[in-house]
Amino acid sequence: MWNNITLCSVCKFFPSSLLFSRSRTLYHVFKRKYKDLCKDEQTAQILQDGSCQVVKRTCNMLPSRLVSNKAKYRRYTKTYPVLDGRIPAVYQHVFEENLRNSEAVIQRYSELLEMVSKGGGENSILRHTQRNKKLFVRERLKMLLDDESFLELSPLAGLNMPYGDVPAAGCLTGIGKICGVWCVFMANDATVKGGTIYPIGVKKQLRAQEIAMQNRLLSVYLVDSGGAFLPLQSELFPDKSDGGRVFYNEAIMSAMKIPQVAVVCGSCVAGGAYVPTMAEETVIVDKIGTLFLAGPPLVKAATGENVSPEDLGGARLHSKVSGCSDHFAPSEKEAYECVRNIISTLNYEPLPEEVMEYDDPLYSSDELLGLAPQGYEYTLPVKLIVSRLMDGSRFQEFKADYGTTLVTGFGHVEGHLVGIVASNGELSHDASLKGSHFVQLCSQRSIPILFFQNTAPHAAEPTSILQAEAHTNRLKAQASMMAAVACAAVPKITIVIGGCYGSESYVMCGRSFSPNFLFLWPNARVALVDSRHFSTIPKADDSDCKGDELELSHLKEKLEEESSAFYSSARLWDDGVILPQNTRKVVAQCLEIIKQQKYQVISPCQYPVIRM
Ligand code: COA
Repeated sequence: MWNNITLCSVCKFFPSSLLFSRSRTLYHVFKRKYKDLCKDEQTAQILQDGSCQVVKRTCNMLPSRLVSNKAKYRRYTKTYPVLDGRIPAVYQHVFEENLRNSEAVIQRYSELLEMVSKGGGENSILRHTQRNKKLFVRERLKMLLDDESFLELSPLAGLNMPYGDVPAAGCLTGIGKICGVWCVFMANDATVKGGTIYPIGVKKQLRAQEIAMQNRLLSVYLVDSGGAFLPLQSELFPDKSDGGRVFYNEAIMSAMKIPQVAVVCGSCVAGGAYVPTMAEETVIVDKIGTLFLAGPPLVKAATGENVSPEDLGGARLHSKVSGCSDHFAPSEKEAYECVRNIISTLNYEPLPEEVMEYDDPLYSSDELLGLAPQGYEYTLPVKLIVSRLMDGSRFQEFKADYGTTLVTGFGHVEGHLVGIVASNGELSHDASLKGSHFVQLCSQRSIPILFFQNTAPHAAEPTSILQAEAHTNRLKAQASMMAAVACAAVPKITIVIGGCYGSESYVMCGRSFSPNFLFLWPNARVALVDSRHFSTIPKADDSDCKGDELELSHLKEKLEEESSAFYSSARLWDDGVILPQNTRKVVAQCLEIIKQQKYQVISPCQYPVIRM
């Protein structure tokens, strides 16, 4: 996901023992220092705990008069209690099981990313770069974006679809900075079937536009597309969320004062031609950029006329005659420079160059791999995860002793204040009431909410009236939390750290509750029910049950395959899979992206820019 850091992190496979090295080293240093006193393990542990308390008390005793105003402010945020993130020895075996699972799924994740990074494959890239003299889409992004890491959205979209593999859904989308401004980009990869649009490609572009609208981000389209992938035309036209919606959104976004710039950097045929012609400003690249509703082969078939792509819809024609393009660029490099100049005319307030000071968590983020549950029964207390994600591992917990299967409270991620709503077991009646209360607090105080979702795989069947009553009450409480989450007028980010099952996933701000961003850890499982909780044993020793057993076993296999994080991400049920150890970085960047809209000059005009 984080382009510069993902691959490094993915490649960083470390022996599991290293994960414990930090705490072990500290423990041994401690034991050496107090060796005379440490007659046994228990004494050592008591002393270690005691020394932490002394440090904490000393910090709290610092006189406030001695610190500057700035430091006073920082001290204020630093007074949240520090979470104890040490992993108790009794959890060690679960930690190790989770770690093994994390390593396996991350291995698979890195293989898929590697595959996707090659677009349509080596031959297609050669045809694209050597014969068609165009830059590969990832090179284009390097030229367009500031020299910083960018957030690629759903890179695994389009893999293993019923109609085959469509690497990155044939279109790279993401958020990066151009001239210091966060922008959404949508860039066709013409090495994947000439950049033609598959149904999953439409979905990916629509999601990128939705992100642009929700977070008010200017959008840049790099268009190099043969239009609709014709064999799937019935799935691309004419329903509401089919191809045409991309063009509709362009007009709506413009009316919302979300600027859109397009670069024609390849063949833009049919549907591919509407994206630049609906954009507010368009740049076309000489020789390689063409724009037409029907290309030369179709003209030949219809009229018998031989016409070159250049004469039919090249850069000069559209810059001088049709006016479909506003800027003529002699080369791709000059086109991207032109985009930067256009962005400097948007009259955006410069983003403040504040450097936020923050503390790193006290516990290693690598240990998140052992806390990422491979199944619900491998779930450890969620505060162990929170302690590895919050600045200084500090957390101001809300209702700590009530409804404890949900953890709520405030913390900072790289200096940004967030409200945390984290699953810590089945979402009980009390936990749901607490969740509703807390979500409303965040909404009232305009604090973004960060959901850590790990929902229970299934609800137990009631066996008595009393239990049925309890279920009803829980359902009502969950419904009120759902309403609170849906209506909270603050940015929401959801990270699925384990299970995303059934109705509890809605309460925890699943995809249908429109979080601004939703990411999965690679161990995550997404399904209505957990396949591992499905029984395949026939009820009686009866041959009639054999058929049922077979059917159940097929259903279980299907469910198993459809539950993986990669299956979900391929279908764009999320914004991508992220590595647990990159979570802080991704969340902090999302919070920064969301914050940008505070600095935009918004005029009351509600009309789009209409091309003349
Ligand atoms: N639907 C399905 N497949 C298409 C396609 C379309 N609209 N356009 C191109 N392709 C496929 C080609 O069959 C080829 O597949 P292959 O690699 O398996 O052989 C691949 O995309 C690349 O096409 P190719 O023509 O070899 O590459 P190119 O770079 O020279 O040209 C285009 C790319 C898109 C400019 C050119 O193929 C073209 O003009 N296609 C027709 C576009 C069209 O009429 N669209 C109408 C949509 S309503």
